Amino acid sequence: MKIIDGKLIANEIKKDLIKEVLKLKETNIIPGLGIILVGHNEASEIYVRNKIKVCEELGIKATLYRYNDKNTDEEIIAKIKELNNDRNIDGILVQSPLPNKFDENKIISYINPSKDVDGFGTYNLGALFSDNEQIIAATPLGILKMLDYINVSISGKNVVVIGSSIIVGRPMAAALLNRGATVTIAHSQTKNLQAVTKQADILIVAIGHAKFITDEYIKEGAIVIDVGTNRIDNKLYGDVDFDKVSPKCSYITKVPGGVGPMTIIMLLSNLIIAAKRREK
Ligand code: GUN
Repeated sequence: MKIIDGKLIANEIKKDLIKEVLKLKETNIIPGLGIILVGHNEASEIYVRNKIKVCEELGIKATLYRYNDKNTDEEIIAKIKELNNDRNIDGILVQSPLPNKFDENKIISYINPSKDVDGFGTYNLGALFSDNEQIIAATPLGILKMLDYINVSISGKNVVVIGSSIIVGRPMAAALLNRGATVTIAHSQTKNLQAVTKQADILIVAIGHAKFITDEYIKEGAIVIDVGTNRIDNKLYGDVDFDKVSPKCSYITKVPGGVGPMTIIMLLSNLIIAAKRREK
């Protein structure tokens, strides 16, 4: 069993991105990210703080716009329209989830597709599903990079993705299908999950339930990617029970230090690609 070290891979990519930002600066372009954070969701506060920190390390200008329950969809949409027209902004993200009163899909639909660095908008998702990939969401993109890193061929593999979210499961499945995998998306309504996951050469788990996946769900020699980030008593746990599962795997990721570090770096990779288009 080998561990796929997300922290190490992310650090390698980060070094390349720092060089890319320096090159952009020679042409007077400082990549700009507008972050919209609504409310005070504890996990979102941590994610956004980390995104801003990595932006600073890379020389990217991140600007945070805060809203709360007293604001309206229209006020957030007005900010998105302003950022769409701002030449110094290359990417706009709305940290998910929004408090219930807001219409998240509607708000996101106002982000110009070329600035939708999260890839959650209908245009980028549609392009991905029609095998015309434009901007791919950061978590699936990070997982593709990890699979690339261990030189696994995706074509023809049975891949099971557990979780059908816009952030992970759906774009992950589409990207794998584009690369020739036989893809199954399992979710909370799936019957006999073990029978499904036992078919997986590659199992990608985004359930949101600590240590849910044990050895009984795993085919001998599978590659297991754990997207879970379950915070319990201020400690982070994955969706996979690492101690039980790892002896059966050929490769596995850890939490923390697996998919998590890849996610922010791939978001900023998307942003830098968008900033490069400014030159043209
Ligand atoms: N919430 C959890 N993950 C993400 C992400 O990658 N992007 C945004 N915008 N919100 C999230």
